[in-house]
Amino acid sequence: MRVLVTGAAGFIGSTTAELLLSKGHDVVAIDNLVSGRIENVPTGATFVEGDCGDFELVRSLGSFDACVHFAARIEPGESMKYPEVFFSNNVASTFRLLDALIKSGVGRFVFSSSCAVYGNQVEMPIDESRSIQPHSPYGQSKRMVEEGLNWLVSTGRLRAASMRYFNAAGGTVAHPENHRPEIHLIPIALDVADGRRDYLEIYGDDYPTPDGTCIRDYIHVCDLAEAHVLAITALEDHAELILNLGSGVGYSNREVAETVKRVTGREFEIRYTGRRPGDPAAAVASNGRAREMLGWRPERSDLEVIIADAWTAHQSI
Ligand SMILES: NC(=O)c1ccc[n+]([C@@H]2O[C@H](COP(=O)([O-])OP(=O)(O)OC[C@H]3O[C@@H](n4cnc5c(N)ncnc54)[C@H](O)[C@@H]3O)[C@@H](O)[C@H]2O)c1
Repeated sequence: MRVLVTGAAGFIGSTTAELLLSKGHDVVAIDNLVSGRIENVPTGATFVEGDCGDFELVRSLGSFDACVHFAARIEPGESMKYPEVFFSNNVASTFRLLDALIKSGVGRFVFSSSCAVYGNQVEMPIDESRSIQPHSPYGQSKRMVEEGLNWLVSTGRLRAASMRYFNAAGGTVAHPENHRPEIHLIPIALDVADGRRDYLEIYGDDYPTPDGTCIRDYIHVCDLAEAHVLAITALEDHAELILNLGSGVGYSNREVAETVKRVTGREFEIRYTGRRPGDPAAAVASNGRAREMLGWRPERSDLEVIIADAWTAHQSI
C-alpha cells in the first residue's frame, strides 16, 4: 500500500512509519518540523517538508491507499494559553488535509485522537461509550476532528479510525521520545536519572488516589504503531472505528518515579508541588474494544519494559 504519514518526524509518527516500511508499504512522510526532528524520519520513507494542511502540496503528492494522521500540536497546557493555535493547526489543517486527500481518492484515514477527549472522569477504566467532555482546547481539537470524521464517514466517501491514546511512552533507539518541549513524566524522570535535570517535579500529592499522586495508563509506542497498522486493515471491514489505546493498567506518578529509579539504578530527588490545572486524578483505559476489533495485544506495555526501553533509547540522545 502507499501510505501518507503526517507528523512522521515526531515520536509516534516516526515509529509507525518505520513499522509500515518494515511491512513492505510505500511511505510518504510529511512534517513541517514545528516540533519534530528530521533525523526521526525513517530511512526508506519519502520525506516532504511542509504543512499537512497545505492543500496544493498534499494534492501534488498523488493518491494514497491510506493516511495515518499524527501531525498536531500536543501540549494541553499551551492550548489553554493559545487555543487559536490548536484549532488552526489541529482542526483547520486536518480538514484541509482531508479535502485534498478525498479529492485524490484516499479511502482510509487513521487519526491520532487522545484520552483528553474524556476530560475528568471519575470511574475507571474508561471505555469508548463514556461522555466526551474535554477540559482543554487540545482535547476539544481532537473532539472536533472526531466529529467531523463522523460526518465524512456518513457520506460514504471515507473510512476513518479515531485512536484515543492514553500516555504514549517507551521508545526505540531509532525513535526515542524527545519532544520539544518535553512535557511527559517518563522522559523527564530519565533526564533526572541521567543528571540532565536536577530533580523531578510531581504535580500534586493530594489527589483522591491511594498515594495522592495522579494515576495514568502508559502504552508503549511500539504497541501504538502496531494498532495503527491493524486499523488500516480493519477499515476494509468497518467504515468507522473509535478505539481506546491503553494498557488497561494505571500507575501513579510516584510509582512511575520509583520504577524509573529501580530500572536505571539511579537515585534522585522528587519534589511534590501543587496540582496543575486541568489534570484529572486518573485516566486508565478500557482497551477491550481495540483487542476485539483489531485483534491487538499491547505486548510491550508493562511499565518496567516501557521504562527499560525508554532508558536505552534515552541514552542515544
Ligand atoms: N504522546 C502522547 O502521549 C499522545 C497521547 C495522546 C495523543 N497523542 C497524539 O499523537 C500524535 C503524535 O504525538 P507525538 O507524541 O508523536 O508528538 P510529536 O510532537 O513528537 O509529533 C507531532 C509531529 O507533527 C508535526 N506537525 C505538527 N503540526 C504539523 C502540521 N500542521 N503539518 C505537518 N507537521 C506537523 C510536528 O513537527 C511533529 O513532528 C499527536 O496528534 C498527539 O496529539 C499523543
